[in-house]
Amino acid sequence: MKIIIINGPNINMIGIREPEIYGSETYVELQNKVNDYCDSANIDIKIVQSNSEGKLVDYLQSAYFDKYDGVIINPAAYTHTSVALLDAIKAIAPIPVIECHLSDVNNREDFRKISFLRLGCVDVVSGLGINSYIKALDEIVKIIDVNN
Ligand code: DQA
Repeated sequence: MKIIIINGPNINMIGIREPEIYGSETYVELQNKVNDYCDSANIDIKIVQSNSEGKLVDYLQSAYFDKYDGVIINPAAYTHTSVALLDAIKAIAPIPVIECHLSDVNNREDFRKISFLRLGCVDVVSGLGINSYIKALDEIVKIIDVNN
């Protein structure tokens, strides 16, 4: 099973940026935890990050062209603004996409409660720190298994 995790702007800065919100674990630790989990679950994983909206669109399209079974995306700030990312998610249907956040976006500023991407995603996981990614992996594996 091939899954791609796509991280948006400033996710590479976790552990440094606002640790009271995003935790003290670094982006390298996030990648290590996800890679260890995927090794044990026999998942073929690719983890990417970009600060650019267009590059994130390219990564979403690559899920189609490179035949991924599922996508987990933490669009970061673009969650709350990006029609281009929503359109890209719709363009790669029926590949399931889960929206994932470290923080609990529903219990922060009002603008963070708005997600343009949610309309195209099969689920949203938030508020568990790095474990949001592990929960999202568990969920997407189940969804892919049911679909196949
Ligand atoms: C975030 C939440 C977003 O609102 C914010 O812009 C981020 C990170 C999260 O993982 O909690 O950069 O997506």
